[in-house]
Amino acid sequence: MYGLVNKAIQDMICKYHGENTWEIIKQKAELEDIDFFISMDAYSDDITYRLVEAACGVLDMQAHDVLKAFGEYWVTYTAEEGYGELLDSAGTNLPQFIENLDNLHARVGLSFTQLCPPSFDCEHTSEKSIELNYRSTRQGLAPMVIGLLHGLGKRFQTKVDVTQTSFREHGNAHDSFSIKYDDSQSYD
Ligand code: HEM
Repeated sequence: MYGLVNKAIQDMICKYHGENTWEIIKQKAELEDIDFFISMDAYSDDITYRLVEAACGVLDMQAHDVLKAFGEYWVTYTAEEGYGELLDSAGTNLPQFIENLDNLHARVGLSFTQLCPPSFDCEHTSEKSIELNYRSTRQGLAPMVIGLLHGLGKRFQTKVDVTQTSFREHGNAHDSFSIKYDDSQSYD
């Protein structure tokens, strides 16, 4: 994945657990040769998976929780790292933004030319609920999507409740999520 992703993982770990913990995680992931990640360079996916795995060991957390926290972090990280306008252009409320996720990544792909983006499609199952299908060339990132949806809920001051309803790891064709949202109440 692009260095931007690995940088965001580094940023999240440094912010919540400190620089020393980051150095330990980096060493455990056998990435001590990398001084820093370059946002616009494409790295092997293996590097990102190794970072997540090492973070689980050092922080005594499950991969699910690390990925979920990372997904939530990604929404504010990208907004602060120069992609705020891109996020703004994808929608002014949660359902609209979710509809535009593939357009958003298509726009990202104009500058990240080797991008291998996820794909989302959704169905509005009632006035305040959405069924979201997530497809990816990569395995195991569904918890990140759950975190991303919570991050978007915060962005739009919308309470979200996400339940995963189908699981690729259990043999389903793709991952699906049932999202209930309420923008009349603030997130917290
Ligand atoms: C402006 C904001 C965003 C930018 C710049 C961005 C960019 C990227 C980049 C560079 C990757 C790595 C893919 C690769 O290197 O091949 C990625 C992956 C991903 N993005 Fe986004 N993204 C943004 C917002 C979002 C949002 C809001 C979601 C919400 C669902 C999302 C969902 C994902 C997922 C799930 C992946 C993991 C890759 C996979 O599933 O295969 N992204 N994105």
